[in-house]
Parts: sequence; C-alpha cells; structure tokens
Amino acid sequence: MPVSPRDDPDTDLGVYLHWPFCERVCPYCDFNVIRARPMDQSEWLGYYLRELTYFQERAPHYKLRSIFFGGGTPSLMRPEIVGALIDHIKALWPAPRALEVSLEANPSDASPETLAAFAGAGITRLSLGVQALNDKDLQALGRWHDSAQAVRAVENAKTYFQHVSFDLIYGRPGQTRGLWEAELTQALALKPDHLSLYQLTIEPGTAFYRARARRRLTLPGEDGMAAFYETAQDLCANAGMEAYEVSNHAAPGARCVHNLIYWRGGDYVGAGPGAHGRISVGGQRYETLIVKKPKDWAASVKRRGHGAARMEPLSAQDQFTELLLMGLRLNEGVDLARLEALVPGGVTRDASAELQEAGLITRDARNIRATQKGRAVLNAVLQRLLA
Ligand SMILES: C[S@@+](CC[C@H](N)C(=O)[O-])C[C@H]1O[C@@H](n2cnc3c(N)ncnc32)[C@H](O)[C@@H]1O
Repeated sequence: MPVSPRDDPDTDLGVYLHWPFCERVCPYCDFNVIRARPMDQSEWLGYYLRELTYFQERAPHYKLRSIFFGGGTPSLMRPEIVGALIDHIKALWPAPRALEVSLEANPSDASPETLAAFAGAGITRLSLGVQALNDKDLQALGRWHDSAQAVRAVENAKTYFQHVSFDLIYGRPGQTRGLWEAELTQALALKPDHLSLYQLTIEPGTAFYRARARRRLTLPGEDGMAAFYETAQDLCANAGMEAYEVSNHAAPGARCVHNLIYWRGGDYVGAGPGAHGRISVGGQRYETLIVKKPKDWAASVKRRGHGAARMEPLSAQDQFTELLLMGLRLNEGVDLARLEALVPGGVTRDASAELQEAGLITRDARNIRATQKGRAVLNAVLQRLLA
C-alpha cells in the first residue's frame, strides 16, 4: 500500500468536536444546531469517546496539534465533560505540551467560575460569540446577552485563557458605516488577541430568510457591505491585528492554529453530529461526514461505535479545488507546488494573468495569493480560476 507524506507520524492533526445543542437557536443560524433539552451529559460523553477511538484506530499515525470544541454551544457542556474529552484525545494521539484547545462560548455562560473551570479542564483559547456590542442589535439578532455582559465576558476570559477571541457579525439591518466603526473601535479597545468578523449572511431555512422574503428585514446593499469590510480591514490593521484570513484578524502569535489546519489543507478528525473531517489512510485522503441529527448519531454510535454517514476518497481534483478555495482565504496564499502536485497545470497562466492584471491576485514562482481587493470578491476570483 502506498504511503503518502500524510501518513507520516509527524503529520499534524486537528480534532474538531461538534456539540449541537443551544439554549435557543438564533434566527440567522443554519449550523447543525438544536435547542437543548435536559440530558445526561455523561451518557453523551460516552458516545464522543467511542467515536474518537473509532477514528484513532483508523488513523493512529498523527501528532495532535489542536482541539476545537465548536457548536452549537459547547459552553453548555459541563467543564468535567470537556476535561474528560481532552484527556481522552491526548491519550489517543501524541500531543505537544503547547496544545491549542479552543472552546466556543456564549457570553451568558461566561461567569468567572465557569471560565475558571474550563481553563482547569485544559481549554487554552476561548472564542466568545459576542456578535454585537449594542443592545438593540443584540435583540434583533435574537441574542440573550446584553453588551455589558459581553464586555464582562471578554474581560473575565482574558484572566483565565492564554488566547481570547470573539466573533462579531456586521452588515446588520440598519447598521451604518459610522456605527460599525464606533463598535469595532470599542471591540478593539477590549484587546482580544483575535477577532472573527463575519458578514451577516441570510441562509435558506432560517427565520431571517423568511423575514426577508416577507420584506420584514432589509440589509445594507452590496456597496454598504464592501464599505463595512474596508472599515474592518483598516481599523484592525491600525490596531496591529493582521487580517490573516478573509474574516479573521490576529495579534502577533495569536492566529488560530486549528483553523489554519483547515485553511492550509491539513488533516482533522471531526466527531459529533454533523462534523466533517479529512483524514489520510494508506496514502489516500478521505472526506468523513457524521450523521447530522443528534438522536440518530447517538443511536449509530451505540450500534456500531461511530456515526460516520460517509467516508469517501477524495480525488486529486477535489483536493486541488479545496486547497485553492481554502488557501486563497489566507493572506499567505497557497503553495503552487502543492497545487501542481495534485493537478499539473491546474492554475492556468491565462486565468492568473487576467486576475493579476485586475489587481485581484499575485502570483510568483512559489505562491498564489488573493490581494485585499481580491479577497473582498473571492467567489468571483475562484470561479475564474476554477473555470
Ligand atoms: C454557530 S456559532 C456557535 C458559537 C456560539 N454558540 C454563538 O452562538 O455565538 C459560530 C459563529 O458563526 C457566526 N454565524 C453563524 N451564522 C451566521 C450568519 N448567518 N451570518 C454571519 N455569521 C454567522 C457567528 O458569528 C457565530 O459566532
């Protein structure tokens, strides 16, 4: 059986755990989430442990680099459950001492006691779902924390964790460039070492989608969105927060190691309802996808030790497309040699010359990267490159 560089025991692995439960489901969210009901978390812990072991048995040859608890709202997990999962994962794959372990948390679950317990359990990086720093917009977004609570959560988090990030959503109904500038200035003054700034997207199946269809929700137009993006780039750059990815900004040394694994086309195990993964076995890279419905997932793990709905080999063309899609999100761009190894001549001279001329990408002997202007219209850039 051929052994690819990816089967090298030194290959880095990220582990993603999806906790799909939320106190309430936000009206804009189309992630794999459901409203939490009373449950026995110890029983669910058992399912996660079994599924992780299943993946380790198939892909033991990795070095652990990061763990990410995402959701849903993983801050609804009891800290001892989180601790037991971290210990189990570290026993499955060799881990460095400086392992990045992130947890997404809602400001409403961020009392000093809870945060101290998560830090004690092994979380090193907290990512808070702040979303907005004014109460009217927080209400409009269906959130149940207020801005004072969000500010306190960020400040408390800085006491307990090595790295603190928070998410803001911009392009909200009624938001102006001036309001966004003031809000982001306030956000930066809190001095997180990482910020994720997402443009509000209206996804089919969400309450916001239905409201927009009934003309009860009006969003800033395309020009407005572009102006918000530009404001974010300028303010973050002035504050020393590098735009290392389209929506992510970090202080020096504070980039998210786990997300970089995705964007650089690395391997990761995805466990829990609806989680995706990319693992390499015997020289072949696979896409893994776990069943979405929590109940079905639990039943599947009980029955067969895992909830994988699919584990499909990825063709060289699939991997090429994915590497380009992910890598152009990054400021550092993509290594052309890696693209060439997957699909020789896959990035054509014609397409790159055209995009270079338009100031949307740069290309040298080693690398292709989107410029700031290109990253603002990334979908169009990718369409041209993949045509
Ligand atoms: C699924 S949430 C989970 C984190 C946490 N439970 C929370 O509610 O903040 C992850 C992040 O995705 C972003 N997000 C979700 N839906 C979005 C949308 N339609 N538009 C923009 N950002 C969105 C939010 O910023 C959110 O913090």
